[in-house]
Amino acid sequence: MVELKISDTSQLPERDAWAFEALKDLLIREKGFDLEAYKERCILRRIYLKVRSRGYGSLGHYFRVLKRDRDALEDLFQYLTIHVTEFFRNPSAFHYLQQKIVSRLLSESDNSHRLNIWSAGCSSGEEPYSLAILMLRVLERESPSRSFNILATDVDGAVLEKAKKGWYKTDALKNLPREERETFFFPADGGYQVVDRVRKSVTFKNANVLTEMPESRQDLIVCRNLLIYLSREKQEKVITNFSRCMRRGGYLMLGKAETLIGRNRLYFQNVSPTERIYRKRDVPLEEDPLVPRI
Ligand SMILES: C[S@@+](CC[C@H](N)C(=O)[O-])C[C@H]1O[C@@H](n2cnc3c(N)ncnc32)[C@H](O)[C@@H]1O
Repeated sequence: MVELKISDTSQLPERDAWAFEALKDLLIREKGFDLEAYKERCILRRIYLKVRSRGYGSLGHYFRVLKRDRDALEDLFQYLTIHVTEFFRNPSAFHYLQQKIVSRLLSESDNSHRLNIWSAGCSSGEEPYSLAILMLRVLERESPSRSFNILATDVDGAVLEKAKKGWYKTDALKNLPREERETFFFPADGGYQVVDRVRKSVTFKNANVLTEMPESRQDLIVCRNLLIYLSREKQEKVITNFSRCMRRGGYLMLGKAETLIGRNRLYFQNVSPTERIYRKRDVPLEEDPLVPRI
C-alpha cells in the first residue's frame, strides 16, 4: 500500500526519493511550476493521493507514466494548483472593500487616474469578475467618470481559458442577489454568461506570482488563498514584491487564513485584521530589476 502520511522528503521511501526529484524537474520544465516554493507536506500528500487513486504501486511508477503522458501530467498539475473559488468569496471582505476602501482610493487620487487592480491567482475568474462588479456598482453611484482596469493572473493556463469565457453554471451564482445576476449576467447554454462590460474590464494573463509582477503600479492587489500553499520564505518574498509594484497608499487584500510575514510588517500597515486588508506604508523600497514584468 502506498504511504500517505509522508510530511517531508526525509520520510520518502528510498525507492521514491529519485522519482520525487525527477517529478520536480519535469514540472519545472513542462509547466514552469516549482514545487519547492510550496509547502512540502501539502504537495507530498496530494501527489501520494494521486498515486493511490490511480492504483500505482509507487511514485516511481506514476512518474514514468507522467513522463510520457501529457494528459496525466496536466491532470496532476491541475490537482496541485487547487482552483477552489467562488463569486464574492468571504462576502464580508468584499463588503469592506466596497464600503471603505474603494471610496478612499477614489478620493485620494486624481480624477484622471484609472484605478489598477490586480487579482493574483485568479483561478477560473470568479474573483476578478466579482471585483469588476463591485467597481461598476461603486463607480455608477459615486464617480461615473472614473475608470478602472483589472489584471487577473494565474499560473495555470487551462483555468484561465475558462475564466476568459466568463460562462458559469447556474449553481456558481447562488450567492448573488437576483438583481445582481440579472444586471451583470445573462442566461446562456443552460448557465450564465458575464455581460461584456464586466468581461472587458478584466485582462487575463498567464503569469507566475513567484517570478513576475505587473508593469504598471497597482492601487489594489487582491491575492487570496494562494499564499497559504507557499513556503513561509516564498510568502514573504511574494508580499514584498507586491509592495514593489504598488502605488503609495495602495491596498493589499489577502485570504482569511493569510497574513503578513516578517519584514512585510514594515512595508504595510494593518487596516482590517478581520478582513486581512493592509495598506502600503510610505517607506522606500528598492525595485528588484530581476523580476520580469507581466
Ligand atoms: C485556491 S485558488 C484561489 C482563487 C481565488 N483567489 C480565491 O480566493 O477564490 C488558488 C489559485 O492560485 C493559482 N496559483 C498557485 N500558484 C500560483 C503561482 N505561483 N502564480 C500564480 N497563480 C498561482 C492556482 O492555479 C489557483 O488557481
